[in-house]
Amino acid sequence: MSGLVLVLDFGGQYKELIARSVRSLSVYSEIRNGNISADEVKRLSPIGIILTGGPNSLRLPDSPMCDPAIFSLGIPVLGICYGMQLMCHMLGGTVQSGGRGEYGTVCAALDNGSALFGGIPAESAVLMSHSDRVSKLPDGFINTGSTADCPVAACENTRDRLYGVQFHPETGHTAHGRAILKNFLYDVCGAAGDYKLSGYINTQIERIRQKVGGNEVLLALSGGVDSSVCAALLSKAIPGQLTCIFVDHGFMRQNEGDEIENAFSRGGLRFIRVNAGERFIGKLKGVTEPEQKRKLIGAEFIRVFEEEAGKLGEIPFLAQGTIYPDIVESGGGHNATIKSHHNVGGLPEVLKFAELIEPLSGLFKDEVRALGKKLKLPAAIVNRQPFPGPGLAIRVIGEVTADKLEVLRKADAIFREELSGMRRKPDQYFAVLTDTRAVGVKGDGRTYDPVIAVRAVTTDDFMTCEYAPLPHDLLKRVSSRITSEIAAVSRVVYDITSKPPATVEWE
Ligand code: XMP
Repeated sequence: MSGLVLVLDFGGQYKELIARSVRSLSVYSEIRNGNISADEVKRLSPIGIILTGGPNSLRLPDSPMCDPAIFSLGIPVLGICYGMQLMCHMLGGTVQSGGRGEYGTVCAALDNGSALFGGIPAESAVLMSHSDRVSKLPDGFINTGSTADCPVAACENTRDRLYGVQFHPETGHTAHGRAILKNFLYDVCGAAGDYKLSGYINTQIERIRQKVGGNEVLLALSGGVDSSVCAALLSKAIPGQLTCIFVDHGFMRQNEGDEIENAFSRGGLRFIRVNAGERFIGKLKGVTEPEQKRKLIGAEFIRVFEEEAGKLGEIPFLAQGTIYPDIVESGGGHNATIKSHHNVGGLPEVLKFAELIEPLSGLFKDEVRALGKKLKLPAAIVNRQPFPGPGLAIRVIGEVTADKLEVLRKADAIFREELSGMRRKPDQYFAVLTDTRAVGVKGDGRTYDPVIAVRAVTTDDFMTCEYAPLPHDLLKRVSSRITSEIAAVSRVVYDITSKPPATVEWE
């Protein structure tokens, strides 16, 4: 890919945001570990390098470093937050800790004689989040920005094309952040701006055709955005050669199984729906522990898929809707296992197919959705909110039964319907059937029925989230509809916990 910009990760929560922002400016970007060697960078031959921020401090012995040789490759570098401090530190400047930190949006004076700040007002809002600061610049650098609490908020060495900003241009909280990134990409790195999604589609179609030839391809279709877009792309690339197996485990939301069937039974591919609901419920009988539920569902999913695939004879290729963040996130390996997320990731090892095809593996989620739109998938599928692999089984707290699933399905459908009119919807919203019962009064009689919890969150990456402050009149409508339309529900509560300390799902 020509015109690559490398985003070197130092543990900042914004690495994906930086890489996505670069792509949205029509420049191709990839994320790599901050300790990549200068030789490897040279081999990749990027037009620019961005060093991300990170939670570390240079005063600590184990803080991540980069190969110092990357600063003398003649490739433009933009260091952001920790990235700027690291660059200054490695080139002979001084980073000081202690003192008052700066957190939140503050006013910065930026020198618009700098290529980085061309066309930007002399004073504007920037997002700061740091306690350490650069107190002495390396030789050859000049100071190009400051705030009341941070004398070096930006710096540069134009001869070597090295730039630094203490603030975060990648977030919407920095008023002219996008323009600053654009200046770096186009005016400093000389980007051609030729990265387009339509180009990606054509390249992938060509690659798929070359790789697959006249052979058959098998795909496990969950109906989620990634596997659906993957199916649509493959059926365009190799019409008539794709078979999709949709294992309906019975834990889908209201009408979802039929929606998936309708969208994919229209030619271009062979669609097989396996209605395995009873089989899955049977496996979960008496099981209440969330991790055990997940593992049983994951294992059963593979078993059902394997059985169905076995009926088809040998199919030499297996396609997966792996997307770029799946790859970036699995590269880290330092995270504690909070939940063993089940998806179809275990299939390749079990099925031992000759080859794996992952045509979306270079794309971010928003790009996958845009691709789905270009491929004319229904909006209901392209805009689908994330849905966990084990589905409603982990939203029925405790043992799962067909009756409980039915109650939850109805409550969830009401909640989603009521939110469907919102202009800016939360990033994920759903109902949970708790295992608590509460006393109520309906008509003249006492009731003692289960409690439904509703949850709605806003988030950038699902690693953290805030609960969404839904309007009270909406919550009131949801509560009154759920308790009157579903006989077996006594009350509705709204979950107002953020992540951390809670997780998005209840189980
Ligand atoms: P948590 O609950 O871990 O959820 O904060 C973060 C995001 O992941 C989804 N999630 C899952 N996805 N299999 C999946 O494929 C799972 O077992 C699973 N558990 C949670 C969750 O819906 C949210 O978007």
